[in-house]
Amino acid sequence: MKLNIHLMFLLLVTIIGVCNAAVAFEILYPDPDHPNSCVTLDSKRKSLIIPVGEKRPAPLGSCYELECNKAEGGNFNLVKTTCGKAVINGKVVEENKSVLYPQCCQG
Ligand SMILES: *[C@@H]1O[C@H](CO)[C@@H](O)[C@H](O)[C@H]1NC(C)=O
Repeated sequence: MKLNIHLMFLLLVTIIGVCNAAVAFEILYPDPDHPNSCVTLDSKRKSLIIPVGEKRPAPLGSCYELECNKAEGGNFNLVKTTCGKAVINGKVVEENKSVLYPQCCQG
C-alpha cells in the first residue's frame, strides 16, 4: 500500500513534468542535525533546510523550486522543478530572474 502511493506520486510528477515543467530528483541521506528534513545547498551555496512535505523556491536569480519528500530506507527525495522548455502561444517561455518560482517562468 505504501509502495502504491509512492508509485502514484511518481506517475503524477511525471505527467506534470511532461506537460509544463522539467522535474529532477535527488536522493539525500538523513542529516542528524535536521531530522525529517532535506538538507542541501542552494544555487548560492547556502545551506537550505526543507522539512518533509514542504516546498521552497530557489533564491532570487534562480528559477526553480525544491520539494522534500520521504524516500525508501529513511532517506529523502528532493524534487527540483524548473520551468522547462514550455511553449505558450507559439512563444518559448523565458525566465524572469527578478522574481521567484513559479512567477519567473512567465517572464
Ligand atoms: C520581471 O518581473 C518584474 C517584477 O514583477 C517586472 O517588473 C519585470 O518587468 C519583469 N521582466 C520581464 C522581462 O518581464
